[in-house]
Amino acid sequence: MASDKLALLGGPKAVTRQEELKAAARWPLFGEEEKRAVRETLEGGNVYAPIAELERDFAAYHGVRFALAHNNGTSSIHSAYFAVGVGPGDEVITSAYTWHLQVAPILALHAIPVFCDVDPKAACLDPADIERKISLRTKAIAVLHPYGAVAPMDEILAVARRYGIPVIEDCSHAHAATYRGRKVGTLGDIGCFSLQASKLITAIEGGMLITDREEYYERACVLGHYERIPQLKSEQYRKYHQPEREQAPSCFGFKYRIHPLAAAIARVQLRHVDEWTAIRRRNMGYLTERLRELSAVFEPPYEASGTERVWLNYICQYHEERAGVPRERFIEALRAEGLPATGGRTGYLPVYWNPLYEERSMWAEGYPFDASYVSRKITYQRGLCPEAERFWRRTVGLPVLHWECSQELRDEIVAAVAKVLRNLEVLK
Ligand SMILES: Cc1ncc(COP(=O)(O)O)c(C=O)c1O
Repeated sequence: MASDKLALLGGPKAVTRQEELKAAARWPLFGEEEKRAVRETLEGGNVYAPIAELERDFAAYHGVRFALAHNNGTSSIHSAYFAVGVGPGDEVITSAYTWHLQVAPILALHAIPVFCDVDPKAACLDPADIERKISLRTKAIAVLHPYGAVAPMDEILAVARRYGIPVIEDCSHAHAATYRGRKVGTLGDIGCFSLQASKLITAIEGGMLITDREEYYERACVLGHYERIPQLKSEQYRKYHQPEREQAPSCFGFKYRIHPLAAAIARVQLRHVDEWTAIRRRNMGYLTERLRELSAVFEPPYEASGTERVWLNYICQYHEERAGVPRERFIEALRAEGLPATGGRTGYLPVYWNPLYEERSMWAEGYPFDASYVSRKITYQRGLCPEAERFWRRTVGLPVLHWECSQELRDEIVAAVAKVLRNLEVLK
């Protein structure tokens, strides 16, 4: 049996299959199919063709009426807020634990983010806190499925329906995840997806908005897709761009069209998403099961019952107070074992930990936070969302194994964590 001495202290590395680990963790990885799709677009007669093709396939995959491709996830989220009617002075409930670009479009609409706290296991929105944060001005609830863990949608939707507030799912981390057998993005009123390079369906840069409500689709088109306005059903919007009339075209301020080569790449990725998701689920499911048995100091990621989560990241929770060893030291020991663990900034810091929320002035003094159209003062002091503030401090990220790999590699990863946990005393 190999020595149990930590590699950090001169012992042998637990993970010896470094090349295999690197290959299995590599993402994104483009193959001949993506290259062919790009080449065919460049050589075909209609360079824009992949956009409609991607939208058709994305809508069919999710079983929804409308899919509207965007140039990135942020713009799809901006369109979603606008689509449900968010405007100056309105409030949008959003997670304190999310990527800032889920929140920034709220401000771009002169609306006010109201941060909601999360559960300590998976950092999903806490439905009880959502209810506490609802006011007469709440216009939307934005739900994240963090790192691929699916939020408790029944509870969230029950609160939202009780108050008649639309729900926007930010599925940027959770392509192909399901909740009680239904795909994420189809549970709320609108689903948004980033297709940026790190995501589980990638266009390198791109985004997608899906919905069953024509009204939402049409409003999203009016905001950022002027060329679609002549085809819209409602005259209320069609009037802004009527090529047959002696009238200049217009939209409401943005051009959010996806690059067609990006759409061509994403379309190939979409065709493979189920197969690739299954590989990740096998790999990460095995690790999770094994790591769960090890110690109360180290918790692998959570999967709620009734959900099939996916693996954008593998975010574990390290309980420093139980271990008596600082997280950074624990991570250092894992890395020395040949397991590229990450900490700190891998997890999100609460979005409101930014000077923007203290300064309260973006474009002009007091705008939008204290503008005349705001009906109550929302503040963003530290301590606002305590679980979100704690979650990132416990974060230890391990690599996601995206591709088929050997049982030996998976076991070496488990062995590396187990070895460091066995040796906490010597790390103190
Ligand atoms: C949760 C979440 N929302 C929104 C975005 C924004 O997407 P994009 O970078 O494609 O604009 C991201 C991107 O990482 C994200 O992780």
